[in-house]
Amino acid sequence: MKRNTLLLLSILTLTLSTEVFAPPSYHTLVAPILQHYGTNTTLYSITLNGGEHYIIDLDAPFSWYRCRSPRHPVACNSGACAVARSYIPPSCPVNNTFTGRRCHCNDAPVNPITKSCAPSQSTYKDLVIYWTNGRFLTTGMHFNRSYVSCAPPSLLQSLPEEAIGVGALSRSSLSLPSVFTDPLGQLVARKFALCLPSWMEARGAIFFGDGPYYRPNHLDPSTDVDAAKVLTYTPLQGDSRSLGYFINVTGISINGNHMKLSTNVPYTTLKSNLFKTFIRAFKKAAKGVFQVTSVDPFRLCFIISSTNNGKLIPQIDLMLGNGEKWTIYPSNLIMQVDDNVVCLTFVDGGETAEHAVVIGAYQMASNLLQFDLDQSRLGFSSSLYPHGATCGDFNFTVAGTV
Ligand SMILES: *[C@@H]1O[C@H](CO)[C@@H](O)[C@H](O)[C@H]1NC(C)=O
Ligand SMILES: *[C@@H]1O[C@H](CO)[C@@H](O)[C@H](O)[C@H]1NC(C)=O
Ligand SMILES: *[C@@H]1O[C@H](CO)[C@@H](O)[C@H](O)[C@H]1NC(C)=O
Ligand SMILES: *[C@@H]1O[C@H](CO)[C@@H](O)[C@H](O)[C@H]1NC(C)=O
Ligand SMILES: *[C@@H]1O[C@H](CO)[C@@H](O)[C@H](O)[C@H]1NC(C)=O
Repeated sequence: MKRNTLLLLSILTLTLSTEVFAPPSYHTLVAPILQHYGTNTTLYSITLNGGEHYIIDLDAPFSWYRCRSPRHPVACNSGACAVARSYIPPSCPVNNTFTGRRCHCNDAPVNPITKSCAPSQSTYKDLVIYWTNGRFLTTGMHFNRSYVSCAPPSLLQSLPEEAIGVGALSRSSLSLPSVFTDPLGQLVARKFALCLPSWMEARGAIFFGDGPYYRPNHLDPSTDVDAAKVLTYTPLQGDSRSLGYFINVTGISINGNHMKLSTNVPYTTLKSNLFKTFIRAFKKAAKGVFQVTSVDPFRLCFIISSTNNGKLIPQIDLMLGNGEKWTIYPSNLIMQVDDNVVCLTFVDGGETAEHAVVIGAYQMASNLLQFDLDQSRLGFSSSLYPHGATCGDFNFTVAGTV
């Protein structure tokens, strides 16, 4: 008798869990990426829960948001608490707190712009994101009880007004790519593809999972381009000082240096000695173009006339450690600052810059970059323009309800 009941129960459980993880035909989630103009910089956010904007941070160990008191406090003895507390910066010591006999986890998120930190309480929050077939949104997916930090509103200083917090995209086990890898580990691969919109476009997209990542083909509107199929790969390099992403670069006269990827610096930043060498080489290559007084923060500006039309601006190849190259076309290299003046968007990071080279958002825009955490590699498309595609026109119209 007892045996039968058990059997019945386990059949019921099986049926239920199949329903909970209902949409197995798709393996990819998608969310919009918006561009925000801050005081001195441009930042990007991911939109979750149908309208909450979180500034994306490739380094942050966990996500955090502005919140008065945690709705679902995290217990001190949980695994997530131990991980979060291992990232407490020395400048922000914080102990766990007790309510009666219950121990509640506290951590210390860091603002990616001001670098200030604040003791905060950990909480579980429901995060909602959409499944996609690669072309449009299908159904909403709830990731209930995701670890986030409940930070004091003062920690948002210098972040765009529209943002309610920071979305972590780092290698940490608490970051969004880990949260969105479902418990079964079958549906969504631990990888994400970032398609930052260019200055002119309204919004880009971030995909979690394998793809496909279709983009409309403007060269042939009857077709589309699967950006997952145009990727070249290079190994991602770990760095003990950071949870972020690094690649080995041997070329562009910056031999043997690791490059860090950051969406929180607007322009690629080189340490002074490398910058000087680079500028010298670039000037030489752009010989036919008339140079003019530079416009802050740039060091090298040119006059573009309708006759040369920017065609004399060289393209740049980042020579990668594994023999591949990442081409940076002029659209990701120069920015128009006046009617006929354009500037080279690489900037001098000073003598004491922490990293030799940090690749900035302007260089990543309209490129699809796939960060594959399981295989520890970066897939990059270079500019999508030659493929007839952009990052800016994903169809985020919601057909049904979340
Ligand atoms: C913006 O840049 C100016 C000039 O470089 C600097 O003085 C100011 O502190 C910066 N503001 C912020 C919020 O970073
Ligand atoms: C944490 O607790 C220890 C031991 O009670 C105490 O010495 C320390 O001052 C506390 N630190 C903070 C930041 O409250
Ligand atoms: C997640 O929470 C929402 C309400 O916040 C609820 O409607 C939904 O059923 C929950 N999903 C799961 C899988 O528990
Ligand atoms: C990157 O370069 C360093 C130094 O040349 C080397 O030790 C390391 O193995 C390289 N990493 C990858 C992932 O190729
Ligand atoms: C965008 O998606 C919606 C909902 O799936 C659909 O009704 C609409 O036709 C799509 N728009 C375009 C331009 O494809």
